[in-house]
Amino acid sequence: MLEGRSLIGPDDFSVTELDRLFELTEQIKNDKRYLRRSCRGKLLAALFFEPSTRTRLSFEAAMLRLGGSTLGFAEPGSSSASKGESLADTVRVVSSYADAIVMRNPKEGAALLASRYSSVPVINAGDGGHHHPTQTLTDLVTIKQLCGQFSGLTVGFCGDLKFGRTVHSLASSLSRYADVKMIFVSPGELTIPEYITQGILKKNNISYTETDRLEKVIGGIDVLYMTRVQRERFLNEEEYIRLKDSYILTPKLMRFAQSGLVVLHPLPRVNEISVEIDDDPRAAYFKQAEYGMYIRMALLASILGVV
Ligand code: NCD
Repeated sequence: MLEGRSLIGPDDFSVTELDRLFELTEQIKNDKRYLRRSCRGKLLAALFFEPSTRTRLSFEAAMLRLGGSTLGFAEPGSSSASKGESLADTVRVVSSYADAIVMRNPKEGAALLASRYSSVPVINAGDGGHHHPTQTLTDLVTIKQLCGQFSGLTVGFCGDLKFGRTVHSLASSLSRYADVKMIFVSPGELTIPEYITQGILKKNNISYTETDRLEKVIGGIDVLYMTRVQRERFLNEEEYIRLKDSYILTPKLMRFAQSGLVVLHPLPRVNEISVEIDDDPRAAYFKQAEYGMYIRMALLASILGVV
Protein backbone atom coordinates (compact mmCIF):
# COMPACT_ATOMS: atom_id res chain seq x y z
CA MET A 1 0.00 0.00 0.00
CA LEU A 2 2.81 2.44 0.86
CA GLU A 3 5.51 0.72 -1.18
CA GLY A 4 8.32 3.04 -2.21
CA ARG A 5 6.87 6.04 -0.33
CA SER A 6 8.90 8.46 1.78
CA LEU A 7 7.59 9.94 5.03
CA ILE A 8 8.74 13.53 5.44
CA GLY A 9 5.81 15.43 6.94
CA PRO A 10 2.97 14.46 9.30
CA ASP A 11 0.32 14.52 6.56
CA ASP A 12 2.14 12.57 3.86
CA PHE A 13 -0.14 9.60 4.46
CA SER A 14 -3.90 9.90 4.11
CA VAL A 15 -6.25 9.17 7.00
CA THR A 16 -7.19 5.88 5.29
CA GLU A 17 -3.54 4.91 4.90
CA LEU A 18 -3.02 5.70 8.58
CA ASP A 19 -5.95 3.48 9.55
CA ARG A 20 -4.39 0.61 7.65
CA LEU A 21 -1.06 1.24 9.41
CA PHE A 22 -2.78 1.24 12.82
CA GLU A 23 -4.46 -2.11 12.01
CA LEU A 24 -1.16 -3.58 10.91
CA THR A 25 0.48 -2.31 14.12
CA GLU A 26 -2.16 -4.07 16.19
CA GLN A 27 -1.64 -7.31 14.29
CA ILE A 28 2.12 -7.11 14.82
CA LYS A 29 1.71 -6.33 18.51
CA ASN A 30 -0.71 -9.20 19.09
CA ASP A 31 1.17 -11.83 17.10
CA LYS A 32 4.91 -11.60 17.61
CA ARG A 33 5.55 -14.05 14.75
CA TYR A 34 3.63 -12.02 12.21
CA LEU A 35 5.95 -10.57 9.49
CA ARG A 36 8.88 -11.92 11.46
CA ARG A 37 11.17 -12.64 8.51
CA SER A 38 9.41 -10.54 5.92
CA CYS A 39 12.30 -8.10 5.38
CA ARG A 40 15.05 -10.69 5.08
CA GLY A 41 17.83 -9.41 2.83
CA LYS A 42 16.69 -5.78 3.15
CA LEU A 43 18.88 -3.02 4.55
CA LEU A 44 17.86 0.07 6.50
CA ALA A 45 20.39 2.91 6.75
CA ALA A 46 20.01 4.97 9.92
CA LEU A 47 21.71 8.36 9.57
CA PHE A 48 21.52 10.21 12.87
CA PHE A 49 23.11 13.65 12.83
CA GLU A 50 21.50 14.42 16.23
CA PRO A 51 21.21 12.40 19.47
CA SER A 52 18.46 9.82 19.82
CA THR A 53 17.66 6.83 21.97
CA ARG A 54 14.13 5.69 21.23
CA THR A 55 13.77 6.68 17.63
CA ARG A 56 17.02 5.14 16.45
CA LEU A 57 16.83 2.02 18.60
CA SER A 58 13.16 1.40 17.86
CA PHE A 59 13.86 1.65 14.12
CA GLU A 60 16.78 -0.75 14.48
CA ALA A 61 14.77 -3.12 16.65
CA ALA A 62 11.88 -2.91 14.18
CA MET A 63 14.09 -3.77 11.20
CA LEU A 64 15.84 -6.60 13.03
CA ARG A 65 12.52 -8.05 14.19
CA LEU A 66 11.35 -8.04 10.58
CA GLY A 67 14.44 -10.09 9.68
CA GLY A 68 16.24 -7.20 7.94
CA SER A 69 19.53 -5.51 8.81
CA THR A 70 20.62 -2.00 9.66
CA LEU A 71 23.72 0.09 9.13
CA GLY A 72 24.53 3.72 9.73
CA PHE A 73 25.85 6.13 12.31
CA ALA A 74 24.57 7.58 15.55
CA GLU A 75 26.52 10.82 15.49
CA PRO A 76 27.75 13.05 12.68
CA GLY A 77 31.30 13.06 14.06
CA SER A 78 31.79 9.54 12.74
CA SER A 79 30.51 10.31 9.23
CA SER A 80 31.97 12.30 6.32
CA ALA A 81 29.67 15.18 7.26
CA SER A 82 32.48 16.10 9.63
CA LYS A 83 34.78 16.42 6.58
CA GLY A 84 32.34 18.81 4.96
CA GLU A 85 30.40 16.42 2.74
CA SER A 86 26.99 17.76 1.70
CA LEU A 87 23.85 15.96 2.78
CA ALA A 88 22.89 15.54 -0.88
CA ASP A 89 26.11 13.63 -1.63
CA THR A 90 25.83 11.46 1.51
CA VAL A 91 22.27 10.52 0.66
CA ARG A 92 22.99 9.84 -3.02
CA VAL A 93 25.64 7.33 -2.00
CA VAL A 94 23.85 5.73 0.95
CA SER A 95 20.72 5.20 -1.14
CA SER A 96 22.78 3.02 -3.45
CA TYR A 97 23.71 0.82 -0.45
CA ALA A 98 20.38 0.49 1.37
CA ASP A 99 16.69 -0.15 0.66
CA ALA A 100 15.46 2.71 2.87
CA ILE A 101 16.95 5.57 4.84
CA VAL A 102 15.84 6.91 8.21
CA MET A 103 17.42 10.23 9.05
CA ARG A 104 17.53 12.75 11.90
CA ASN A 105 19.13 16.10 11.24
CA PRO A 106 19.26 19.40 13.13
CA LYS A 107 18.24 21.41 10.04
CA GLU A 108 14.60 22.07 9.22
CA GLY A 109 13.87 20.73 5.74
CA ALA A 110 16.84 18.33 5.71
CA ALA A 111 14.66 15.24 5.23
CA LEU A 112 12.82 16.81 2.31
CA LEU A 113 16.11 17.69 0.68
CA ALA A 114 17.41 14.15 1.29
CA SER A 115 14.33 12.65 -0.34
CA ARG A 116 15.08 14.62 -3.50
CA TYR A 117 18.52 13.03 -3.84
CA SER A 118 17.65 9.54 -2.64
CA SER A 119 16.74 6.66 -4.92
CA VAL A 120 15.08 4.84 -1.98
CA PRO A 121 12.37 5.93 0.52
CA VAL A 122 13.47 8.44 3.15
CA ILE A 123 11.89 8.55 6.61
CA ASN A 124 12.18 11.77 8.57
CA ALA A 125 13.17 10.95 12.16
CA GLY A 126 13.18 14.64 13.12
CA ASP A 127 14.35 17.73 11.20
CA GLY A 128 15.36 20.41 13.70
CA GLY A 129 12.41 22.05 15.41
CA HIS A 130 10.16 21.32 12.44
CA HIS A 131 8.56 17.87 12.25
CA HIS A 132 8.86 14.32 13.57
CA PRO A 133 6.26 12.26 11.70
CA THR A 134 7.13 8.82 13.05
CA GLN A 135 6.70 10.08 16.61
CA THR A 136 3.28 11.23 15.45
CA LEU A 137 2.47 7.75 14.15
CA THR A 138 3.45 6.48 17.60
CA ASP A 139 1.32 9.11 19.36
CA LEU A 140 -1.68 8.50 17.13
CA VAL A 141 -1.69 4.74 17.48
CA THR A 142 -1.36 5.08 21.26
CA ILE A 143 -4.30 7.49 21.43
CA LYS A 144 -6.33 5.25 19.13
CA GLN A 145 -5.66 2.23 21.31
CA LEU A 146 -6.35 3.98 24.60
CA CYS A 147 -9.21 6.29 23.61
CA GLY A 148 -10.77 4.31 20.75
CA GLN A 149 -10.95 7.24 18.35
CA PHE A 150 -9.71 10.79 17.76
CA SER A 151 -12.95 12.59 17.06
CA GLY A 152 -14.39 14.43 20.02
CA LEU A 153 -11.15 14.46 22.03
CA THR A 154 -9.71 17.49 23.77
CA VAL A 155 -5.94 17.25 23.48
CA GLY A 156 -3.72 19.42 25.69
CA PHE A 157 -0.14 20.13 24.66
CA CYS A 158 2.13 21.41 27.42
CA GLY A 159 5.72 22.65 27.54
CA ASP A 160 7.98 23.83 24.75
CA LEU A 161 5.48 24.26 21.94
CA LYS A 162 7.78 26.55 19.98
CA PHE A 163 10.69 24.18 19.39
CA GLY A 164 8.92 20.86 20.06
CA ARG A 165 8.76 19.19 16.67
CA THR A 166 6.63 16.35 18.00
CA VAL A 167 3.96 18.90 18.96
CA HIS A 168 4.00 20.49 15.51
CA SER A 169 3.56 17.15 13.80
CA LEU A 170 0.90 15.80 16.15
CA ALA A 171 -1.21 18.97 16.12
CA SER A 172 -1.10 19.06 12.29
CA SER A 173 -2.06 15.44 12.00
CA LEU A 174 -4.88 15.58 14.56
CA SER A 175 -6.40 18.57 12.77
CA ARG A 176 -7.61 16.16 10.09
CA TYR A 177 -10.08 14.50 12.46
CA ALA A 178 -13.54 15.87 13.16
CA ASP A 179 -14.37 17.68 16.36
CA VAL A 180 -10.91 17.54 17.92
CA LYS A 181 -10.20 20.41 20.32
CA MET A 182 -6.73 21.54 21.29
CA ILE A 183 -5.42 23.42 24.30
CA PHE A 184 -1.87 24.77 24.11
CA VAL A 185 -0.17 25.38 27.45
CA SER A 186 3.20 27.12 27.35
CA PRO A 187 5.08 30.13 28.67
CA GLY A 188 4.68 33.20 26.45
CA GLU A 189 8.21 32.68 25.11
CA LEU A 190 7.49 29.14 23.89
CA THR A 191 4.10 29.37 22.22
CA ILE A 192 3.13 27.24 19.25
CA PRO A 193 4.21 28.74 15.91
CA GLU A 194 1.65 30.59 13.85
CA TYR A 195 2.20 28.39 10.84
CA ILE A 196 0.47 25.69 12.89
CA THR A 197 -2.34 27.77 14.44
CA GLN A 198 -3.07 30.15 11.58
CA GLY A 199 -1.83 28.00 8.73
CA ILE A 200 -3.24 24.60 9.71
CA LEU A 201 -5.70 24.71 12.62
CA LYS A 202 -7.70 27.73 11.45
CA LYS A 203 -7.81 26.36 7.92
CA ASN A 204 -9.24 23.08 9.22
CA ASN A 205 -11.69 24.84 11.57
CA ILE A 206 -10.10 23.31 14.65
CA SER A 207 -11.09 25.03 17.85
CA TYR A 208 -8.09 25.76 20.08
CA THR A 209 -7.10 27.89 23.03
CA GLU A 210 -3.73 29.07 24.32
CA THR A 211 -2.86 29.60 27.99
CA ASP A 212 0.11 29.56 30.33
CA ARG A 213 -1.77 27.94 33.25
CA LEU A 214 -1.96 24.14 33.24
CA GLU A 215 -3.90 23.95 36.50
CA LYS A 216 -6.73 25.98 34.98
CA VAL A 217 -7.33 23.69 32.02
CA ILE A 218 -6.18 20.22 33.07
CA GLY A 219 -9.66 19.18 34.21
CA GLY A 220 -11.08 19.49 30.68
CA ILE A 221 -8.34 17.56 28.90
CA ASP A 222 -8.69 13.96 27.62
CA VAL A 223 -5.13 13.51 26.36
CA LEU A 224 -2.30 15.52 27.91
CA TYR A 225 0.85 15.64 25.78
CA MET A 226 3.75 16.79 27.98
CA THR A 227 7.04 17.87 26.40
CA ARG A 228 10.52 18.81 27.56
CA VAL A 229 11.98 22.28 27.02
CA GLN A 230 14.26 21.76 24.00
CA ARG A 231 17.59 22.94 25.39
CA GLU A 232 19.54 22.31 22.17
CA ARG A 233 17.43 24.82 20.22
CA PHE A 234 18.07 27.74 22.59
CA LEU A 235 20.58 30.38 21.60
CA ASN A 236 20.84 31.56 25.19
CA GLU A 237 21.49 29.11 28.06
CA GLU A 238 20.15 31.55 30.68
CA GLU A 239 16.83 31.70 28.89
CA TYR A 240 16.71 27.89 28.91
CA ILE A 241 17.44 27.77 32.64
CA ARG A 242 14.72 30.31 33.31
CA LEU A 243 12.12 28.35 31.35
CA LYS A 244 13.10 24.73 31.85
CA ASP A 245 10.89 24.05 34.86
CA SER A 246 7.88 26.05 33.70
CA TYR A 247 5.63 22.99 34.14
CA ILE A 248 5.98 19.94 36.32
CA LEU A 249 3.15 17.46 36.37
CA THR A 250 2.77 16.38 39.99
CA PRO A 251 0.30 14.14 41.87
CA LYS A 252 -1.23 17.33 43.26
CA LEU A 253 -1.98 18.63 39.76
CA MET A 254 -3.26 15.23 38.70
CA ARG A 255 -5.98 15.52 41.34
CA PHE A 256 -7.64 18.14 39.14
CA ALA A 257 -7.53 15.86 36.07
CA GLN A 258 -10.20 13.45 34.81
CA SER A 259 -10.00 9.84 35.93
CA GLY A 260 -9.78 8.76 32.28
CA LEU A 261 -7.00 11.17 31.32
CA VAL A 262 -4.20 9.76 29.15
CA VAL A 263 -0.79 11.32 29.83
CA LEU A 264 1.65 11.06 26.93
CA HIS A 265 5.24 12.26 26.48
CA PRO A 266 7.50 11.57 23.49
CA LEU A 267 10.41 11.14 25.95
CA PRO A 268 13.11 11.83 27.00
CA ARG A 269 11.59 13.25 30.17
CA VAL A 270 13.75 15.69 32.08
CA ASN A 271 11.78 17.22 34.92
CA GLU A 272 8.35 17.92 33.48
CA ILE A 273 6.62 14.81 34.80
CA SER A 274 7.31 13.91 38.40
CA VAL A 275 8.40 10.24 38.70
CA GLU A 276 5.57 9.71 41.19
CA ILE A 277 3.18 9.89 38.23
CA ASP A 278 4.73 6.80 36.64
CA ASP A 279 2.58 4.51 38.79
CA ASP A 280 -0.61 6.45 38.09
CA PRO A 281 -2.79 4.39 35.72
CA ARG A 282 -3.23 7.51 33.61
CA ALA A 283 0.48 7.61 32.73
CA ALA A 284 0.84 6.06 29.27
CA TYR A 285 4.24 7.29 28.09
CA PHE A 286 6.11 4.01 28.46
CA LYS A 287 3.35 2.14 26.67
CA GLN A 288 3.59 4.83 24.00
CA ALA A 289 7.33 4.15 23.54
CA GLU A 290 6.59 0.45 23.07
CA TYR A 291 3.98 1.23 20.41
CA GLY A 292 6.71 3.23 18.68
CA MET A 293 8.54 0.05 17.80
CA TYR A 294 5.45 -1.77 16.56
CA ILE A 295 4.31 1.05 14.32
CA ARG A 296 7.83 1.43 12.92
CA MET A 297 7.69 -2.27 12.03
CA ALA A 298 4.39 -1.65 10.26
CA LEU A 299 5.85 1.38 8.48
CA LEU A 300 9.02 -0.39 7.31
CA ALA A 301 7.14 -3.48 6.13
CA SER A 302 4.76 -1.22 4.20
CA ILE A 303 7.26 1.04 2.48
CA LEU A 304 9.52 -1.91 1.67
CA GLY A 305 6.52 -3.52 0.00
CA VAL A 306 6.46 -6.81 1.91
CA VAL A 307 2.92 -6.40 3.16
C1 NCD B 1 11.56 13.77 20.71
C2 NCD B 1 12.38 14.43 19.62
O1 NCD B 1 13.48 13.96 19.29
O2 NCD B 1 11.90 15.42 19.10
N1 NCD B 1 12.13 12.56 21.11
C3 NCD B 1 11.76 11.41 20.48
O3 NCD B 1 12.04 11.21 19.32
N2 NCD B 1 11.03 10.54 21.16
C4 NCD B 1 11.24 14.67 21.84
C5 NCD B 1 12.37 15.36 22.54
O4 NCD B 1 13.55 15.17 22.22
O5 NCD B 1 12.06 16.11 23.47
